[in-house]
Amino acid sequence: MARGPGFALPSPPMPLLLLLLLAAVTGQAAAQDNCTCPTNKMTICSRDNPGGRCLCRALGSGFEVNCSTLTSKCLLLKARMKATQSGRKLVRPSEHALVDNDGLYDPDCDHEGRFKARQCNQTSVCWCVNSVGVRRTDKGDQSLRCDELVRTHHILIDLRHRPAARAFNHSDLDAELRRLFRERYRLLPRFVAAVHYEQPTIQIELQQSASQKAPGDVDIADAAYYFERDVKGESLFAGRSGLDVNVRGEPLQVERTLIYYLDEKPPQFSMKRLTSGLIAVIVVVVVALVIGVLVLVVTNRRRSGRYRKVEIKELGELRKEPSL
Ligand SMILES: *[C@@H]1O[C@H](CO)[C@@H](O)[C@H](O)[C@H]1NC(C)=O
Ligand SMILES: *[C@@H]1O[C@H](CO)[C@@H](O)[C@H](O)[C@H]1NC(C)=O
Ligand SMILES: *[C@@H]1O[C@H](CO)[C@@H](O)[C@H](O)[C@H]1NC(C)=O
Ligand SMILES: *[C@@H]1O[C@H](CO)[C@@H](O)[C@H](O)[C@H]1NC(C)=O
Repeated sequence: MARGPGFALPSPPMPLLLLLLLAAVTGQAAAQDNCTCPTNKMTICSRDNPGGRCLCRALGSGFEVNCSTLTSKCLLLKARMKATQSGRKLVRPSEHALVDNDGLYDPDCDHEGRFKARQCNQTSVCWCVNSVGVRRTDKGDQSLRCDELVRTHHILIDLRHRPAARAFNHSDLDAELRRLFRERYRLLPRFVAAVHYEQPTIQIELQQSASQKAPGDVDIADAAYYFERDVKGESLFAGRSGLDVNVRGEPLQVERTLIYYLDEKPPQFSMKRLTSGLIAVIVVVVVALVIGVLVLVVTNRRRSGRYRKVEIKELGELRKEPSL
């Protein structure tokens, strides 16, 4: 039967050889052997296409995602809304529903998967958002205009860790967190501006202006969102459940997280008591274990550089019990 020396191999290795060849051709095959998306659980992947390539599409939008990098927050929120609608909320403890709904809406994403400047949540109520999808104006009707997507160029992540036997060593903690952002979230090191630590508070500052960000660079908005989901124990990475970070063998256990967003332009809320100050930061609070939702608007005091917290009117709105 053998037509040449190359074909004299016994039959079993043939498929193996083919597989190896295929693997060499597709390059990423090792990571996607069984066709899953390592960087985004909220996808449906298949080889059901002419090239037989493993192709992953985001839930909710059907957008094709690049599984070698992070998926944009806009697509992730959309996928999350889809998951919520399909009944997954039923398995969640009801007291967490409030937390999960903080700022949650079904966003409109542009052709690159980024937030559109104007969002209407599929209703006739619209508002303008920044590049992390957080509302930065009052709500209006469909005549509301949002001329541009204002960039969030500074994100302050404020964590409180659980009491540990002793404080972490600042330089070890700094190195570990920078490594986390570089390796897991694929954020270029220069965008992690600083890591501050005073037990039990850890602050991570991410900074990235439009001119510093090259095409293909991970956006700080997306890195912060992946981090937020890791902290909540809802990791988006395949095979991972939570943050899972150790500093010299000591696990970093986060018990509270606040995320402050600073936009390139001040937000435009028409609230009387806030108009006097320079309003620069919008805060979304992520609560890992503590129940309840706080939405704060923070003013950035020019000289002191300290953040002053001011509650905004939606607190009552958000406190409403979900009807589960
Ligand atoms: C995919 O492959 C990984 C490692 O090769 C394995 O751990 C995982 O169980 C596989 N998943 C499925 C759905 O087969
Ligand atoms: C968007 O709409 C959904 C469902 O209609 C609702 O549950 C959610 O609270 C809305 N979000 C905002 C920010 O208005
Ligand atoms: C923290 O660790 C570094 C080495 O990683 C060491 O040089 C430094 O002395 C340590 N600091 C304290 C306060 O232990
Ligand atoms: C996917 O992302 C990686 C990392 O940013 C990039 O090198 C690659 O070109 C992207 N692939 C596609 C098909 O866009």
